[in-house]
Amino acid sequence: MSKSKQVLVTGGAGYIGSHTVVSLVNANYKPIILDDFSNSNPQVIEGIQDILQESITYYRGDCRDWDLVSSIFNEHQFDGVIHFAASKAVGESVEQPLRYYGNNLDSLMVMLRAVEQFKVPNLVFSSSCTVYGQPDHLPVTEETERKPAASPYGNTKKISEDIIFDVVGSAANLKAVSLRYFNPIGAHPSAKIGELPLGTPNNLIPFVTQTAAGIRDVLTVFGDDYNTPDGTCIRDYIHVMDLSDAHVRSLTYLEEQSESSYYEVFNLGTGKGTSVMEVIKSFQEVAGVPLNYRVGPRRSGDIEQIFASVKKAEKALNWKALKTMKQALADTWKWQQAISKIP
Ligand code: NAD
Ligand code: WQD
Repeated sequence: MSKSKQVLVTGGAGYIGSHTVVSLVNANYKPIILDDFSNSNPQVIEGIQDILQESITYYRGDCRDWDLVSSIFNEHQFDGVIHFAASKAVGESVEQPLRYYGNNLDSLMVMLRAVEQFKVPNLVFSSSCTVYGQPDHLPVTEETERKPAASPYGNTKKISEDIIFDVVGSAANLKAVSLRYFNPIGAHPSAKIGELPLGTPNNLIPFVTQTAAGIRDVLTVFGDDYNTPDGTCIRDYIHVMDLSDAHVRSLTYLEEQSESSYYEVFNLGTGKGTSVMEVIKSFQEVAGVPLNYRVGPRRSGDIEQIFASVKKAEKALNWKALKTMKQALADTWKWQQAISKIP
């Protein structure tokens, strides 16, 4: 058997990173994790190892630490880097912009310096549909204009995309993609890894499952007076396992590009919009438990509706989201029950 290609996965103990590590191993890559556990914990590595029944190499540390990063790049000959590590709470970024610009931009810069210096050919970057703001036309394609960012977090994604574009456009021998995720949900079907929000969740699905599990009293639906069929906001929710597979496809795709410098952007979603009320209904059906919810006021900064055109990723990456909303909700519920130890 040919030797597995080594891939550095920054933020590999996080929500999307941990699932991607599983997908990478299943595709015969050798992922090496670098994570400072600022928004995750070492038990996640155990969960990954439990699923894979093999040990995973990981480094505990900050990807802004050049001495550590260069020692890791000296130790391993990487074929690629998947750069997940970032701070991701939109509200927190408004309160602590320097922390967000500092972590998200400095960690990217260190990675770019490392891939250049150590001649690593491929980079996959975690971007976000947040770069589109409220689009004028739906679905959004990769050509849809990016709007001025509504938060420092969103701005870090926009600036990061621009930095990568410039670096690839310079003399660097680097092939890169920015993947614009829509709303990742779900968990590994084994319920050994999943999303671990610290404190009160900001995102809809963890709030739904925590409410159903009795950890939260009531889910507030943020507004039902939007210009949508049932008045609640619409998003494109994608199962994290589908998203993880797209990262593997992206790496393979980059390896296949014959140019030495290359940059592309892909939307990663399902192409289907689902309203908050539809999520609640599906969850109740899947989990078989009633959900305590009430309709409250709109949340400031929310956009009315967004969903992706995924034609570009489907064609170029030969990838498609395969799992349904119900599968994603069932997997999240199973995960919630595992972590809250509900019989
Ligand atoms: P996460 O917080 O679960 O994972 C990020 C991981 O990176 C964590 O394990 C954290 O400990 C680690 N980390 C953060 N800063 C670090 C640093 N300086 N050095 C080393 N490790 C560091 O987040 P996630 O949901 O898995 O998101 C992964 C990426 O995808 C992020 O870049 C995020 O902005 C992006 N993204 C997420 C979503 C979403 O809804 N989850 C949507 C769009 C884009
Ligand atoms: C989804 C819908 C809420 C909680 C965020 C970031 C975005 C990206 C993905 C990283 C909205 C409604 C939510 C609740 C509710 N992340 N809702 N009650 O806002 O689409 O995007 O995560 O890049 O940048 O902003 O996701 O899960 O917070 O909300 O009614 O308690 O659920 O109003 O319509 P969002 P979300």
